[in-house]
Amino acid sequence: MASELEQMDAILDKFVLDDDTLFKVSSLLLQQMERGLSAEHNSIATVKMFPTYVTSFPNGKETGRFLALDLGGSNFRVLTIEMQTDVKIAGNIYSIPEEIMKGPGNKLFDFIVNCLEKLLLDVDQIKDTLPLGFTFSFPCVQHSLTSATLVFWTKGFECSGVEGRDVVQLLNDAIQRSGKISVEVIAFVNDTTGTLTTCAYKDENCKVGLIVGTGCNACYVEDTKNIHTLQPGYEDREKMIVNTEWGAFGDDGCLDFLRTKFDKEIDKESCNKGKQVFEKMISGMYMGEIVRKVLVEFDEKGLIPQRLPNRIREQGSFKSKYVSHIEEDGEGLYPKTKSVLWKLGFIETPEEECEILKRVCRRVSTRAAHLVSAAVATLLNKMQRPETTIGVDGSVYRYHPFFKQIMEEKIADLTDPKYKFKLMLSEDGSGRGAAFVAAAAVREKREKDRKL
Ligand code: BGC
Repeated sequence: MASELEQMDAILDKFVLDDDTLFKVSSLLLQQMERGLSAEHNSIATVKMFPTYVTSFPNGKETGRFLALDLGGSNFRVLTIEMQTDVKIAGNIYSIPEEIMKGPGNKLFDFIVNCLEKLLLDVDQIKDTLPLGFTFSFPCVQHSLTSATLVFWTKGFECSGVEGRDVVQLLNDAIQRSGKISVEVIAFVNDTTGTLTTCAYKDENCKVGLIVGTGCNACYVEDTKNIHTLQPGYEDREKMIVNTEWGAFGDDGCLDFLRTKFDKEIDKESCNKGKQVFEKMISGMYMGEIVRKVLVEFDEKGLIPQRLPNRIREQGSFKSKYVSHIEEDGEGLYPKTKSVLWKLGFIETPEEECEILKRVCRRVSTRAAHLVSAAVATLLNKMQRPETTIGVDGSVYRYHPFFKQIMEEKIADLTDPKYKFKLMLSEDGSGRGAAFVAAAAVREKREKDRKL
């Protein structure tokens, strides 16, 4: 009979992905990416590789005042961005009430416009028509820089009447309904695009934007000639950002060979069953819940000396941020682990339990970092650039104590050594990114008009 420790290890070993497995993940992902870029096979691709129509990048010569909306997680932000010799940002952040996240779509857009109105009143610009960049971080088919149809919601959003509709139109409709403000939507972007753009402002080698936060996704700069799903009229553009939407990788079952029973349960209990399979193994929306499920399994099998408090049986009770807190504790030390255990209702916190919890967190977060690394390596090997900077944002990447380090090591293991890379933390890409894209589009138009 295997000891308790061996039994726990056998469960945790399912989270270990060796390099052969990660190479396999990478080659499956590449296959999906190629399908996504092809006109013929896009319909069967899980990774849709949406063209973003972002072809102009900020070059520091942008000026003016812009508005930005940032919707993509449980918080929503409205910002004003003043670009002169430097960039000044002001704005407000709102948490989105559950009834708005899951209610009718027009209520969501009315809520957004209401927040925008308040900001314009605060900055005394309610009467002006300002250019606006809209970051909307969900999978959308874009038709141009200012038109995008939501394919499906992710990350817990379920507003009715939005899937299959043009979200810029829905925003404009809500502005009309309000009748109090006037804005011009210049750019619609995903948070990955915003991240890439803001990092590219500082580092021209930045050609990939990555988010590891509530959700997980990446975009990159592609030669326009390789994108076969473009609307006509962009033939003269050399490069364009492509939003991979790799969160949906695995939705056809191709990753089932590595998914654990916990991943499958999480999917079953989610509001978007069968969707975002890759994202569900990585992002902050799910990481804590995976850890919780493993702990419950240990408990049910009688592998932990102390019975777990009931709180742990509640779905969502183990927050993803706890994983980062716990892993901050050094070798053999448990102050943060203990404080998490207290929050969860443990009265006694012997070191043995603390160590078990830490090991579960480490396995789950390392698997997430390895899967993201395999996906980043796929892009780097595909792009074949001697040097690439990857702009990164998102709570998991930002706050986990070793996520960056694990990624650096694993990307290097999985990427051809000819292609050097650097990870760069973005400064609020999803907020200011949309304004940057809008500003670059305005500048380019001005330059063109001047030439004519
Ligand atoms: C969405 C992406 C987004 C990512 C990170 C995913 O759920 O589908 O559009 O970029 O989350 O926010």
